Amino acid sequence: MSRLSSRHLLGLEGVPAEDIQLILDTTESFREVLERRIKKLPTLRGITVLNLFYEPSTRTRISFELAEKRLSADTVNFSTSTSSVKKGESLRDTVQNIEAMKIDMAVVRHGSTGAPYFLTQCMDSNIINAGDGAHEHPTQALLDMYTIRKRYGKLNGLRVVLVGDVMHSRVIRSNIWGLKTMGASVALCGPSTLMPYEVEKFGCDAYTHLDEALEGADVVNIMRIQLERQQAGLFPSQREYTKLFGINKERLKRLNKNYTIMHPGPMNRGVEISSEVADGDRSVILDQVTNGQAVRMAVLYLLSGREEGGE
Ligand code: CP
Repeated sequence: MSRLSSRHLLGLEGVPAEDIQLILDTTESFREVLERRIKKLPTLRGITVLNLFYEPSTRTRISFELAEKRLSADTVNFSTSTSSVKKGESLRDTVQNIEAMKIDMAVVRHGSTGAPYFLTQCMDSNIINAGDGAHEHPTQALLDMYTIRKRYGKLNGLRVVLVGDVMHSRVIRSNIWGLKTMGASVALCGPSTLMPYEVEKFGCDAYTHLDEALEGADVVNIMRIQLERQQAGLFPSQREYTKLFGINKERLKRLNKNYTIMHPGPMNRGVEISSEVADGDRSVILDQVTNGQAVRMAVLYLLSGREEGGE
């Protein structure tokens, strides 16, 4: 079996193109399983996966849980609201106690950058980052890349525009690293107050005018604007954000003819994306969700070190 170069998936920064290619190619076969009447394989039988969510999630949490079940793994779901975190138990004590019950892999979402890396230092399990602070959300970017590759047959040479809160978006960060490694041309667009210092170090074109950024784009991946950034004074009002950076039908005229609209969810309809665009025939937003399950099956399988179908 071909192996990934790491036993954890913490982010896409520095991940070699061969690893990304292997995950996307492996996803292809699991995507086919999702079309079968019986969507189940014995691949991870006997493996126990902990889903450790310290932040809310709909898509990522359910998608990982379903991916684990489709591969016949045993799953344990942890949420802070029903755990002894409420009594002040630390992250280290929490995971070491759960690991003492014999788990093999952990999927973690946490509000603090670096929490998945911290777990690699105090657990033996394979660790998968399901989103950490403003750092990375690697499986989201992998499912975005898989969805784009499926549509165009390639990533190399496509122009992908990532619109939103460039400073705080972990989805944007993972997309930048993954897409650039696979040869796409990446453009970033958002308010100057939400652009990181020295944005040019990402090696992408950066724009504060949406129409300029959209010129000639193949794919527009629109990020949720986090409304708490408004309270922090980083943009004046939702109305102004929508006027300057909201994607509506009028704006799509600047894109390439065969354009694609993406959003990782959850969406603020009428703020960063109009309903007409979100539900339009170029939107692949629900395909992203379906593909996400297959990507997560691929990542779990490849990190587990299991031979296909075996133990
Ligand atoms: N895209 C994404 O991470 O969505 P959730 O927060 O619902 O998991």
